[in-house]
Amino acid sequence: MKLILLGAPGAGKGTQAEVISDALKIPQISTGNILREAVKNGTDFGLKAKEAMDAGKLVSDEIVIGILKDRIAESDCENGYILDGFPRTVPQAEALSAMGISIDKVLEVYVSDEKIESRLSGRRVCESCGASYHIEFKPSKVDGVCDKCDGKTIIRKDDSPEVVKDRLKTYHDQTAPLKDYYGKLGKLETVIGQDEVADTTKLVLKAVGVNG
Ligand code: AP5
Repeated sequence: MKLILLGAPGAGKGTQAEVISDALKIPQISTGNILREAVKNGTDFGLKAKEAMDAGKLVSDEIVIGILKDRIAESDCENGYILDGFPRTVPQAEALSAMGISIDKVLEVYVSDEKIESRLSGRRVCESCGASYHIEFKPSKVDGVCDKCDGKTIIRKDDSPEVVKDRLKTYHDQTAPLKDYYGKLGKLETVIGQDEVADTTKLVLKAVGVNG
Protein backbone atom coordinates (compact mmCIF):
# COMPACT_ATOMS: atom_id res chain seq x y z
CA MET A 1 0.00 0.00 0.00
CA LYS A 2 1.23 3.51 -0.83
CA LEU A 3 -0.15 6.21 1.42
CA ILE A 4 0.28 9.93 1.76
CA LEU A 5 -0.32 11.64 5.10
CA LEU A 6 -1.36 15.23 4.68
CA GLY A 7 -2.01 17.84 7.34
CA ALA A 8 -0.88 21.09 8.90
CA PRO A 9 2.33 21.15 10.95
CA GLY A 10 1.59 19.51 14.27
CA ALA A 11 -1.67 17.89 13.14
CA GLY A 12 -0.23 14.51 14.10
CA LYS A 13 0.99 13.14 10.76
CA GLY A 14 4.25 11.83 12.19
CA THR A 15 2.55 10.27 15.22
CA GLN A 16 0.00 8.46 13.04
CA ALA A 17 2.54 7.51 10.36
CA GLU A 18 4.49 5.60 13.05
CA VAL A 19 1.35 3.68 14.03
CA ILE A 20 0.40 2.79 10.45
CA SER A 21 3.98 1.77 9.74
CA ASP A 22 3.89 -0.70 12.66
CA ALA A 23 0.43 -1.99 11.72
CA LEU A 24 1.05 -2.47 7.98
CA LYS A 25 4.79 -3.24 8.21
CA ILE A 26 5.69 -0.65 5.62
CA PRO A 27 8.25 2.13 6.15
CA GLN A 28 7.38 5.66 7.20
CA ILE A 29 9.20 8.12 4.98
CA SER A 30 9.36 11.52 6.66
CA THR A 31 11.05 14.13 4.48
CA GLY A 32 11.25 16.36 7.59
CA ASN A 33 13.23 13.68 9.48
CA ILE A 34 15.50 13.05 6.49
CA LEU A 35 16.18 16.78 6.15
CA ARG A 36 16.83 17.22 9.89
CA GLU A 37 19.32 14.33 9.74
CA ALA A 38 21.06 16.01 6.78
CA VAL A 39 21.23 19.31 8.69
CA LYS A 40 22.68 17.50 11.71
CA ASN A 41 25.31 15.80 9.54
CA GLY A 42 26.14 19.03 7.67
CA THR A 43 25.73 17.44 4.22
CA ASP A 44 25.49 19.61 1.10
CA PHE A 45 21.72 19.57 0.91
CA GLY A 46 21.48 19.84 4.71
CA LEU A 47 23.33 23.16 4.51
CA LYS A 48 20.99 24.35 1.75
CA ALA A 49 17.86 23.21 3.64
CA LYS A 50 18.71 24.64 7.07
CA GLU A 51 17.85 28.26 6.41
CA ALA A 52 14.40 27.48 4.97
CA MET A 53 13.58 25.00 7.76
CA ASP A 54 14.60 27.34 10.57
CA ALA A 55 12.34 30.03 9.07
CA GLY A 56 9.32 27.75 8.66
CA LYS A 57 9.56 27.89 4.85
CA LEU A 58 9.66 24.97 2.44
CA VAL A 59 12.90 23.53 1.14
CA SER A 60 13.13 23.71 -2.68
CA ASP A 61 11.12 21.18 -4.67
CA GLU A 62 14.30 20.14 -6.50
CA ILE A 63 16.11 19.06 -3.31
CA VAL A 64 13.13 17.30 -1.75
CA ILE A 65 12.12 15.44 -4.92
CA GLY A 66 15.72 14.20 -5.25
CA ILE A 67 15.70 12.93 -1.64
CA LEU A 68 12.37 11.19 -2.13
CA LYS A 69 13.42 9.47 -5.36
CA ASP A 70 16.52 8.03 -3.68
CA ARG A 71 14.60 6.89 -0.60
CA ILE A 72 11.80 5.05 -2.39
CA ALA A 73 14.34 3.22 -4.53
CA GLU A 74 15.54 1.38 -1.38
CA SER A 75 14.59 -2.28 -0.97
CA ASP A 76 12.34 -1.81 2.10
CA CYS A 77 9.92 0.19 -0.09
CA GLU A 78 9.08 -2.73 -2.38
CA ASN A 79 5.74 -3.47 -0.66
CA GLY A 80 4.70 0.14 -0.18
CA TYR A 81 5.33 3.06 2.15
CA ILE A 82 3.79 5.99 4.00
CA LEU A 83 4.84 9.41 2.79
CA ASP A 84 4.81 11.70 5.85
CA GLY A 85 5.32 15.31 4.76
CA PHE A 86 5.66 14.70 1.01
CA PRO A 87 4.28 16.03 -1.30
CA ARG A 88 4.06 19.55 0.13
CA THR A 89 3.39 21.43 -3.12
CA VAL A 90 1.49 20.70 -6.33
CA PRO A 91 4.78 20.44 -8.31
CA GLN A 92 5.94 17.74 -5.83
CA ALA A 93 2.68 15.82 -6.37
CA GLU A 94 3.14 16.13 -10.13
CA ALA A 95 6.71 14.84 -9.80
CA LEU A 96 5.42 11.78 -7.92
CA SER A 97 2.91 11.11 -10.66
CA ALA A 98 5.60 11.60 -13.35
CA MET A 99 7.65 8.87 -11.60
CA GLY A 100 4.75 6.53 -12.40
CA ILE A 101 3.82 6.09 -8.74
CA SER A 102 0.20 5.33 -8.07
CA ILE A 103 -0.93 6.36 -4.60
CA ASP A 104 -3.68 4.25 -2.99
CA LYS A 105 -4.91 6.82 -0.50
CA VAL A 106 -4.23 10.32 0.78
CA LEU A 107 -5.18 10.68 4.42
CA GLU A 108 -5.60 14.18 5.78
CA VAL A 109 -5.35 14.59 9.55
CA TYR A 110 -7.27 17.80 10.26
CA VAL A 111 -6.67 19.89 13.38
CA SER A 112 -7.54 23.59 13.76
CA ASP A 113 -4.72 26.15 13.82
CA GLU A 114 -5.65 27.09 17.40
CA LYS A 115 -5.02 23.57 18.74
CA ILE A 116 -1.80 23.21 16.78
CA GLU A 117 0.00 25.92 18.69
CA SER A 118 -0.45 24.17 22.06
CA ARG A 119 0.51 20.80 20.61
CA LEU A 120 3.76 22.04 19.16
CA SER A 121 4.80 23.88 22.30
CA GLY A 122 4.67 20.55 24.20
CA ARG A 123 6.31 18.40 21.55
CA ARG A 124 9.63 16.66 22.20
CA VAL A 125 11.49 14.70 19.52
CA CYS A 126 14.29 12.17 19.73
CA GLU A 127 17.46 13.69 18.33
CA SER A 128 18.68 10.23 17.29
CA CYS A 129 15.69 8.47 15.67
CA GLY A 130 13.16 11.32 15.24
CA ALA A 131 10.35 9.67 17.30
CA SER A 132 7.82 12.23 18.48
CA TYR A 133 6.36 12.74 21.99
CA HIS A 134 4.24 15.30 23.82
CA ILE A 135 4.87 16.25 27.45
CA GLU A 136 1.16 15.96 28.27
CA PHE A 137 -0.56 13.88 25.56
CA LYS A 138 2.16 11.34 24.71
CA PRO A 139 5.01 11.45 27.22
CA SER A 140 8.04 9.19 26.92
CA LYS A 141 8.32 6.64 29.75
CA VAL A 142 11.38 8.37 31.17
CA ASP A 143 11.39 12.16 30.87
CA GLY A 144 13.97 13.30 28.29
CA VAL A 145 14.71 9.77 27.03
CA CYS A 146 13.34 8.15 23.84
CA ASP A 147 11.32 4.94 24.41
CA LYS A 148 12.56 3.46 21.14
CA CYS A 149 16.32 4.03 21.13
CA ASP A 150 17.24 5.64 24.49
CA GLY A 151 18.27 8.80 22.59
CA LYS A 152 17.83 12.25 24.09
CA THR A 153 14.49 14.02 23.45
CA ILE A 154 14.69 17.72 22.61
CA ILE A 155 12.55 20.69 21.52
CA ARG A 156 12.64 21.21 17.75
CA LYS A 157 14.07 24.56 16.70
CA ASP A 158 11.10 25.32 14.42
CA ASP A 159 8.57 24.72 17.23
CA SER A 160 9.01 28.26 18.62
CA PRO A 161 5.67 30.17 18.51
CA GLU A 162 6.83 32.68 15.84
CA VAL A 163 8.11 29.96 13.49
CA VAL A 164 4.94 27.90 14.03
CA LYS A 165 2.88 30.86 12.71
CA ASP A 166 5.07 30.97 9.57
CA ARG A 167 4.80 27.20 9.11
CA LEU A 168 1.00 27.42 9.32
CA LYS A 169 0.95 30.19 6.71
CA THR A 170 3.23 28.16 4.43
CA TYR A 171 0.91 25.19 4.87
CA HIS A 172 -2.24 27.12 3.94
CA ASP A 173 -0.60 28.84 0.96
CA GLN A 174 1.37 25.97 -0.56
CA THR A 175 0.27 22.58 0.81
CA ALA A 176 -3.50 22.88 1.40
CA PRO A 177 -4.12 23.10 -2.41
CA LEU A 178 -3.14 19.40 -2.49
CA LYS A 179 -6.51 18.62 -0.91
CA ASP A 180 -8.16 19.76 -4.13
CA TYR A 181 -5.55 18.02 -6.26
CA TYR A 182 -6.10 14.61 -4.62
CA GLY A 183 -9.80 15.23 -3.98
CA LYS A 184 -10.37 15.50 -7.72
CA LEU A 185 -8.56 12.18 -8.19
CA GLY A 186 -10.92 10.59 -5.63
CA LYS A 187 -8.02 9.67 -3.31
CA LEU A 188 -8.57 12.01 -0.36
CA GLU A 189 -10.02 10.97 2.99
CA THR A 190 -10.10 13.31 5.99
CA VAL A 191 -9.83 12.21 9.61
CA ILE A 192 -10.52 14.78 12.31
CA GLY A 193 -7.62 14.77 14.80
CA GLN A 194 -8.99 14.06 18.29
CA ASP A 195 -7.79 15.39 21.64
CA GLU A 196 -6.37 11.99 22.62
CA VAL A 197 -3.74 10.38 20.39
CA ALA A 198 -5.38 6.93 20.82
CA ASP A 199 -8.74 8.25 19.58
CA THR A 200 -7.15 9.64 16.40
CA THR A 201 -5.29 6.36 15.93
CA LYS A 202 -8.57 4.39 15.94
CA LEU A 203 -9.96 6.58 13.15
CA VAL A 204 -6.74 6.44 11.16
CA LEU A 205 -6.42 2.64 11.37
CA LYS A 206 -10.05 2.26 10.29
CA ALA A 207 -9.39 4.56 7.32
CA VAL A 208 -6.48 2.38 6.16
CA GLY A 209 -8.46 -0.82 6.67
CA VAL A 210 -6.88 -2.11 9.89
CA ASN A 211 -9.30 -3.20 12.60
CA GLY A 212 -7.87 -2.02 15.92
P1 AP5 B 1 8.14 18.20 8.94
O1 AP5 B 1 9.03 17.50 9.90
O2 AP5 B 1 7.40 17.39 7.92
O3 AP5 B 1 7.18 19.12 9.82
P2 AP5 B 1 5.63 19.50 9.74
O4 AP5 B 1 4.80 19.19 8.57
O5 AP5 B 1 5.71 20.94 10.09
O6 AP5 B 1 4.98 18.52 10.66
P3 AP5 B 1 5.35 18.19 12.10
O7 AP5 B 1 6.41 17.13 12.14
O8 AP5 B 1 5.66 19.46 12.87
O9 AP5 B 1 3.98 17.70 12.66
P4 AP5 B 1 3.17 16.35 12.57
O10 AP5 B 1 1.92 16.59 11.83
O11 AP5 B 1 4.04 15.22 12.13
O12 AP5 B 1 2.80 16.23 14.10
P5 AP5 B 1 3.28 15.25 15.24
O13 AP5 B 1 2.79 13.88 14.98
O14 AP5 B 1 4.72 15.42 15.55
O15 AP5 B 1 8.96 19.32 8.14
C1 AP5 B 1 9.84 20.21 8.78
C2 AP5 B 1 10.40 21.18 7.75
O16 AP5 B 1 11.12 20.44 6.74
C3 AP5 B 1 9.34 21.96 6.95
O17 AP5 B 1 8.93 23.12 7.61
C4 AP5 B 1 10.12 22.25 5.65
O18 AP5 B 1 11.03 23.32 5.81
C5 AP5 B 1 10.93 20.97 5.45
N1 AP5 B 1 10.23 19.98 4.60
C6 AP5 B 1 9.82 18.73 4.97
N2 AP5 B 1 9.22 18.12 3.95
C7 AP5 B 1 9.25 18.98 2.91
C8 AP5 B 1 8.78 18.92 1.56
N3 AP5 B 1 8.16 17.82 1.09
N4 AP5 B 1 8.98 20.01 0.76
C9 AP5 B 1 9.62 21.10 1.22
N5 AP5 B 1 10.09 21.23 2.47
C10 AP5 B 1 9.91 20.18 3.32
O19 AP5 B 1 2.39 15.86 16.43
C11 AP5 B 1 2.66 17.14 16.99
C12 AP5 B 1 2.60 17.09 18.50
O20 AP5 B 1 1.25 16.86 18.92
C13 AP5 B 1 3.42 15.96 19.10
O21 AP5 B 1 3.97 16.41 20.29
C14 AP5 B 1 2.40 14.85 19.35
O22 AP5 B 1 2.76 13.99 20.40
C15 AP5 B 1 1.15 15.66 19.69
N6 AP5 B 1 -0.07 14.99 19.24
C16 AP5 B 1 -0.23 14.26 18.11
N7 AP5 B 1 -1.49 13.79 18.04
C17 AP5 B 1 -2.15 14.29 19.13
C18 AP5 B 1 -3.48 14.18 19.62
N8 AP5 B 1 -4.42 13.48 18.97
N9 AP5 B 1 -3.79 14.81 20.75
C19 AP5 B 1 -2.87 15.52 21.42
N10 AP5 B 1 -1.58 15.66 21.02
C20 AP5 B 1 -1.23 15.05 19.90
